[in-house]
Amino acid sequence: MNKQIEQIHQDFLEGLNSAKDAMEIQALSIQYLGRKGLITGVLKGISQLPKEERPEAGKKANQVRLAVDNAIQEALQKLATVNTTTEDVIDVSLPGRLPLKGSLHPVSQIQQKICDIFSRLGFDVAEGPEVESDHYNFEALNFPKNHPARDMQDTFFVSDDIVLRTHTSPMQIRIMEKTTPPVRVVTPGKVFRCDSDLTHTPMFHQVEGLLVDSDISFGDLKGILTTFIHQMFDEKTSLRFRPSFFPFTEPSAEVDILCVMCRGKGCRVCSQTGWLEILGSGMVHPALYENVGYPSGKYTGFAFGMGVERIAMLKYGIDDIRKFFENDIRFLQQF
Ligand code: DAH
Repeated sequence: MNKQIEQIHQDFLEGLNSAKDAMEIQALSIQYLGRKGLITGVLKGISQLPKEERPEAGKKANQVRLAVDNAIQEALQKLATVNTTTEDVIDVSLPGRLPLKGSLHPVSQIQQKICDIFSRLGFDVAEGPEVESDHYNFEALNFPKNHPARDMQDTFFVSDDIVLRTHTSPMQIRIMEKTTPPVRVVTPGKVFRCDSDLTHTPMFHQVEGLLVDSDISFGDLKGILTTFIHQMFDEKTSLRFRPSFFPFTEPSAEVDILCVMCRGKGCRVCSQTGWLEILGSGMVHPALYENVGYPSGKYTGFAFGMGVERIAMLKYGIDDIRKFFENDIRFLQQF
């Protein structure tokens, strides 16, 4: 009897040694301690023994039963603590990892803000083609045939007659061709020029504006653009209108704002002048009305055009335009 129980114990220990996981240990528990288990069988058999052998055998069998039970509990415990320290265990109490959320590009944000301000002033928003004919990009805008803007230096030519638009001004013609005044519209979009340095990229964005009606004066131009600049920057931003020239406006003016960096004292950003050029504007040249078939002398209006990147650079204090197009997530995340 003693020998038999010893053998069972021995077999159990071997089995436990080679058990690979909790399932196998549980199986051993059933095999030895279950209702029909090997040790249970021995215990039941004790009553069949001669009376004098029973106490000894009972004691031995119970010792083995206890030892086996302890060994199983210990092995299961050990397995549980080992598991929680392995890397592949999933801790469901940890907070989830959030996926990166996309956001609007700073240039898109500023473009939207510009359009929002003009929308509230009663302007529609329209978009047009980035590949233009010479007619819309130059001819109908009153650019003379030998104007330097038509030079290869600036313009990307697709063919003799087709260009990547160098500005959004062609939209003035496209809109007027389709609309009888009153016309009140802003047209944002990409423009292209063969140029690249700290303040120029071959592709950038402009917003064009056009307002045509009867009795529109330069005072209306000043009022609308002043309101725009005060809403875009702040109410305290001083601005000045400086005489300039564009083939499609007469008279023409460029608008400067007091330098947002030095407030007029003179710094690197404003080249010590205290002022920053922010947009071009003027009263629509009568030649354009003729080109789109408006009756002569019936309407007056004004137009303006501004660079979106330039406004974004001034607003956020960025000194290199190329940063907008490098797609560096550390730069973009700041907006
Ligand atoms: N198209 C001009 C440019 O790209 C900007 C401009 C100036 C637009 C005066 C206008 C304007 O509508 O009236 O430099």
